[in-house]
Amino acid sequence: MPDAAAKMPLAVDGGPKVRTAPWPPRRLFGQEEKQAADALFDQSIATGEAFGYGGVQEEAYCHEFSASLGGGFADGVNSGTNAVYVALRSLELEPFTEVIVPPITDPGGAMPVALLNCIPVPSDAAVGSYNTGVDQVAARLTDRTSAIIVAHIAGLPVDMDPILELAAKRNIPVVEDCAQAHGAKYKGRPVGALGTVGAFSTMFGKHHASGGQGGLVFTRSEQAYWRIRRCADRGKPIGLDGVTSNQFAALNCNMDELHAAIGRVQLRKLPRIVAKRRAVAALLADACRGTRTVRMMQELPLCEGSYWFAFLRLDLPALKVDKATFVKALAAEGIPAESEYLHSPALAEWLRKRSVFGGSGYPWNCPLYQGDATRQYDVPNAVATNACHFRIAINEACGPVEVADIAAAIAKVERAYAK
Ligand SMILES: Cc1ncc(COP(=O)(O)O)c(C=O)c1O
Repeated sequence: MPDAAAKMPLAVDGGPKVRTAPWPPRRLFGQEEKQAADALFDQSIATGEAFGYGGVQEEAYCHEFSASLGGGFADGVNSGTNAVYVALRSLELEPFTEVIVPPITDPGGAMPVALLNCIPVPSDAAVGSYNTGVDQVAARLTDRTSAIIVAHIAGLPVDMDPILELAAKRNIPVVEDCAQAHGAKYKGRPVGALGTVGAFSTMFGKHHASGGQGGLVFTRSEQAYWRIRRCADRGKPIGLDGVTSNQFAALNCNMDELHAAIGRVQLRKLPRIVAKRRAVAALLADACRGTRTVRMMQELPLCEGSYWFAFLRLDLPALKVDKATFVKALAAEGIPAESEYLHSPALAEWLRKRSVFGGSGYPWNCPLYQGDATRQYDVPNAVATNACHFRIAINEACGPVEVADIAAAIAKVERAYAK
């Protein structure tokens, strides 16, 4: 940025903004998605038959999605939350067993545990990360642990191998929540295909979307796939020869044909979206190296993040102000920066107050639960990571101009606030 601009008063103090243009919209949906939807309606109007669910569009979408993960089986569902619900339901977990949940995740990545009458046990993050760490999982394992959920937060892969090894020793299934990590890779392998089951959200904010809401459940096992299908559709005897009665109680989490048709178009765009986000992240990492106080959060070695957004680390001892003040000033310069990302089940009111089934305190208070019903879990590593990081909403429509604006805004704010 020209030195003169850097010397201007901060926008937060009434000075001119570094960036006045709006942040580029993603333009996620285009004519191709519209045509796919139109084609379904055209067919419906021509035949007089409404499109439904479980048809050719979903079959093709699931097939194409599985192929993108290296082969396997997928089922379309109607949200990422229900993808996690169905994934867990398909594991046939005993009620009142414990499921380890991520230190940081959307509520929808943890609530299904309690709704299935299991006990969500938040693990802490690895040091310096928002993601689950293996030692932190080990510290939460008990003889009641029946599953582990990990979430690849912001599209940065969890260090999976040690967690999978630990889980395998105990014969505990691992659910990978990939809501924020479509297209990310861990040691060359796509996330979602590493654990026992992968759960994806395809709501409109995600890398690829099936419409306003949606989700996918992925497995490499055909047997597990049929269970997943049954769990997503009221226990219908899908894939069971000669059986007609619904086999167990479950919700209707089906995706419909319209969402699947949109998802198929979107899936073809996903590689470009991920490549673009990675390129923006690389530019931003480079630009940060030119600042004194900000660095991009690193990917683990041999991993390729898909950057749902960017986490940046702030060198707080080098600043005269706290993180919130710095990030507020950055946001005032026209940069979509947010100070906090502490979406932790461990700190969430619903979990701390046991608000699941009315005022009963169930499943914790049920006499069948053998653990400590009152135990609260801390996540000090996640809190420490959040204390020195903030995030910027990069997306695939960003380019060198946005990165230059971020760098200029950081330089300006740094100039005012660095010691
Ligand atoms: C990690 C994670 N899990 C689950 C979900 C829930 O997905 P949905 O909003 O599609 O229900 C989200 C949503 O952002 C998420 O980020």
